[in-house]
Amino acid sequence: MPPPAHPGGGAAIEVQDLRRTYRTSTGTFRRHRVDIEAVRGLSLCVPPGQLFGLLGPNGAGKTTTIRVLCTLLLPTSGTVRVLGHDVVREPKAVRRQIGYVFGGDRGLYDRLNAVDNLRYFADLYAIEPRLQRRRIEEVMELVGLRGRERERVEGFSRGMRQRLHLARGLLHDPPVLFFDEPTIGVDPVGAREVRQVVSELARAGKTILLTTHYMFEADSICQRVAVISKGKIVAEGTPQELKSAVAARTVVEVEAYGVPEQTLGRIRELAGVESLAVEVREQSQLLTIQAQEGAQLTARLLQLLEGVRVERVANREPTLEDAYVSLVTSG
Ligand SMILES: Nc1ncnc2c1ncn2[C@@H]1O[C@H](COP(=O)(O)OP(=O)(O)OP(=O)(O)O)[C@@H](O)[C@H]1O
Ligand SMILES: [Mg+2]
Repeated sequence: MPPPAHPGGGAAIEVQDLRRTYRTSTGTFRRHRVDIEAVRGLSLCVPPGQLFGLLGPNGAGKTTTIRVLCTLLLPTSGTVRVLGHDVVREPKAVRRQIGYVFGGDRGLYDRLNAVDNLRYFADLYAIEPRLQRRRIEEVMELVGLRGRERERVEGFSRGMRQRLHLARGLLHDPPVLFFDEPTIGVDPVGAREVRQVVSELARAGKTILLTTHYMFEADSICQRVAVISKGKIVAEGTPQELKSAVAARTVVEVEAYGVPEQTLGRIRELAGVESLAVEVREQSQLLTIQAQEGAQLTARLLQLLEGVRVERVANREPTLEDAYVSLVTSG
């Protein structure tokens, strides 16, 4: 079934040159104003029915963008429309059409059971009492919580809670959904369940904008992905396209102990090296080196690492994670 047309036609979510600056103050004695440019000219377009992922490191501006889209925050400048409605001029029309769930959401009533929690929100959303019961059954089914309706939420796992939050966001059957890090803090099994629900919602025709830190999450469920860094989109495409940007590379992983800063600098300067990421583990360091295809690195690396205890050196295929790392660490 084709998604319904809407004023403006075309995209379900449209962001044009969005900027958002936070004004805060700093300093203990002499307070002075500082402007934090959280989003600096971001544009994106999500067609109806697409599951779109916004990826980016901490502080990139993901939550700020989502909050503007949900009418919870005014843009500093730019145009933002949901199903053709402008978030500044027609916030009520936007709110009727959207549902949102933020990761680590609270606001469930532990002492109430799942249905009573949803009934409370259904009242809040002004869903007619005679329709509530059926709608609550439907959303419980959708998020896979049928059979657990009468249990108190205090006994729910993080994954179940998060699915109940998804149910809450779906009560008024909005065509557009915003999920800000929906799997944060949820264990791997629970996270998989949440991803399944999100994928099913997309299959049912919802337009979904989701943010995440996890590359594999975007890779596994999103049809299209934008990588955001310092308030701007630095790459956009299908997960496959983003991966192909690094496909012609060699990735070498080196696990070693106490690599001096100077040596890291030399590795970065080796001919053919595109990027070096260092992950500090409990004892060791994991160096991930992206290099041009065919760069014969291993021998030169080992030469530079002489005197350092090297646990292992391995070549592997580039992943979406590598694409992401090289995008957010360059420039
Ligand atoms: N209420 C606020 N007041 C001042 N600065 C803020 C506020 N909210 C966010 N910021 C700043 O704006 C920038 C973008 O923050 P935002 O929360 O949008 O990033 P994010 O991509 O969601 O990050 P994370 O992955 O950590 O959730 C950061 O530098 C952040 O410190
Ligand atoms: Mg955030």
